[in-house]
Amino acid sequence: MPPTVHVTGELPARVHEALAESFTLADRIEGVDGVLSVLTKRVDGALLDRAGPQLRIVANYGVGVDNVDLEAARTRNVLIANTPDVLTDAVAELTIALTLALLRRVAEGDRFLRRKARWSFSLEFMLGESLRGKTFGVVGPGRIGRAAASLAEAFGARAIFAGRGDEIGVVLETADVVSLHCPLTPETRHLIDAAAFARMRSTAVLVNTARGQIVDEAALVEALRNATIAGAALDVYEREPEVSPELLELENVVLTPHVASATPDTREAMGMLAVEALRAVLLEGRIPPNTVP
Ligand code: 8YV
Repeated sequence: MPPTVHVTGELPARVHEALAESFTLADRIEGVDGVLSVLTKRVDGALLDRAGPQLRIVANYGVGVDNVDLEAARTRNVLIANTPDVLTDAVAELTIALTLALLRRVAEGDRFLRRKARWSFSLEFMLGESLRGKTFGVVGPGRIGRAAASLAEAFGARAIFAGRGDEIGVVLETADVVSLHCPLTPETRHLIDAAAFARMRSTAVLVNTARGQIVDEAALVEALRNATIAGAALDVYEREPEVSPELLELENVVLTPHVASATPDTREAMGMLAVEALRAVLLEGRIPPNTVP
């Protein structure tokens, strides 16, 4: 009998096929050898205990593992794997798409036309900001942050970085675009709060394709309303799938529904990486390279 794997959500067809080729898929988590989890599932001690002591691996369908209690997994000898690298370009691309949509007022212009508003071409109408010549500040210069910075540089921006343990004041105070790419951890929760917005330039914008809880969303609403900052482009939210209703009313805000890795190729590659990790542990007795330390 092949090892058993429980999946906590819907999978792309090819990933499901690959999984079913190697494993017996179990509807219930109790008694399984492996779990394939999506980010909406909280993987904590209680869930791991429900699975049972034979559980050896949870492969998380995503690079962020903030939905997983890593300590609970460690104490139960459950290996956690994630899906790095294969989504780097897709997330960096959406970061720049959001940045440009905000700076050049793409979504606002689209909403304007859909309202069937009267308009005619005018030299002073709906002027935006160019990314060229701007300072693109990366908070969290990992794979995705550096890839986003390279794309921003290709548009003529200058990139600056603040990593773990760095003082982020320089990025907050000098960047025209503050782009978040750090993982969500107890240290980064509400890293961008009222005090952080107060340090940002009034002409600066915030871009978040990392995790919603890195930003104090109520403080963001206040900062936008009071013109403490000039705008925000968000793919992730503090209480997903809820979006603060005030954000929906603001023209200087661009919103997407957590889709930074959402291309068929990327989602498939992520799934295959998760399946590979399950195979490594459960069929080959190997530690996969995408093990979360
Ligand atoms: C995924 C993400 O869509 O990888 C991550 O951390 O947030 C997204 O790329 C998500 O994890 C799917 O479960």
